[in-house]
Amino acid sequence: MVNIDDLVRFVISTRFIIITFLCTLLTCRSLKLSLVPLLMHGLLQTLYKANLAYKCGGQFKWKSLLEFKSCKVVITGGSSGLGRSIVKNLLDTFPNVTILNVDIKTSPEANDRLIDYICDLRNSQALNATLKEIKVNHGSEIRLLVNNAGVRSRYEGFKELKCQDVNDVFAVNSVAPMRFIQELTPHESSDEQCFVVNVTSSLGILSAAKAAAYAASKAALICFHKSYTFELESKGVSNIRTLLVVPGQLDTDMFSGFEPPRQFFAPVLDREKVAKKIVDYVELGMRGDLSAPLYAKFAYVLMAMPYSVQTIVRKMSKMDDCLPNDD
Ligand SMILES: *[C@@H]1O[C@H](CO)[C@@H](O)[C@H](O)[C@H]1NC(C)=O
Ligand SMILES: *[C@@H]1O[C@H](CO)[C@@H](O)[C@H](O)[C@H]1NC(C)=O
Ligand SMILES: *[C@@H]1O[C@H](CO)[C@@H](O)[C@H](O)[C@H]1NC(C)=O
Repeated sequence: MVNIDDLVRFVISTRFIIITFLCTLLTCRSLKLSLVPLLMHGLLQTLYKANLAYKCGGQFKWKSLLEFKSCKVVITGGSSGLGRSIVKNLLDTFPNVTILNVDIKTSPEANDRLIDYICDLRNSQALNATLKEIKVNHGSEIRLLVNNAGVRSRYEGFKELKCQDVNDVFAVNSVAPMRFIQELTPHESSDEQCFVVNVTSSLGILSAAKAAAYAASKAALICFHKSYTFELESKGVSNIRTLLVVPGQLDTDMFSGFEPPRQFFAPVLDREKVAKKIVDYVELGMRGDLSAPLYAKFAYVLMAMPYSVQTIVRKMSKMDDCLPNDD
């Protein structure tokens, strides 16, 4: 099915620019005028490439995970959903990588390079014990840390929110990622490389109705992440790099049970593709944000609009009345 991402990709493609060039040339018969789209395109391409180069750059010479004799990857929530796709992709791509999967249940993938750590991230004591165990046994070899685990609370009105549920959602979605980073990333002045990925959600920017606790916990994660990223940037640290993943709705179980209302603007994402993209970023040591689909990039633009405009767009997108009530 065609969606807005495909449309935009077509509009910025070289094919489209050449068609525009030829059409302008034929209809206006002016070479100068028809050069405008070509120039614009060239400028945009240059800016795009400069941005890419900046995101991969730094004093530290980044290595691919393929270049390590042996290395460890820590992932939370790797037994299902997007996490499982990331685990599969890593196991297939890197023959010398061992994955340490921290999850509440064991992974269905059978592989001798995959070690499960059963841990309930809501429980801070259990979390501390797991972190200690990983640090003692593998601390010096961790080259990638993927904070992927997330839970959502029930869909319900704000007044019905239970304090315990909010605490649990924050413990898993916001506090646990912070603890993993604090305990498992190498020293900033060391010469060990480590890539840190935090997976959040476009709901953390858009805050749809009836998803208050989830949205707030993901918003907290986004802010933690940005603050830490710019702390590293301001210190000129480039052996530790960070990536914030902001996906829209994924084809996983977490949000199953309802059809998103506007598939043209908000297509459901294929988790395999997102997993592959994340692994590509890790390979290049490319920091920054990975937002998909397109609307996730423009969420901030929407939030900066006047209140009435926001309301109209939200009504049109139906984002605030698509969540069912859990009972
Ligand atoms: C990967 O592991 C194998 C077997 O231990 C080893 O022979 C090979 O050199 C390793 N690859 C790299 C890039 O170190
Ligand atoms: C877990 O470790 C942190 C940091 O050392 C500490 O502040 C916290 O109290 C610990 N939690 C428990 C339940 O022991
Ligand atoms: C990821 O989120 C945690 C908080 O949940 C934050 O402490 C951490 O700095 C973030 N990671 C990165 C790489 O920015």
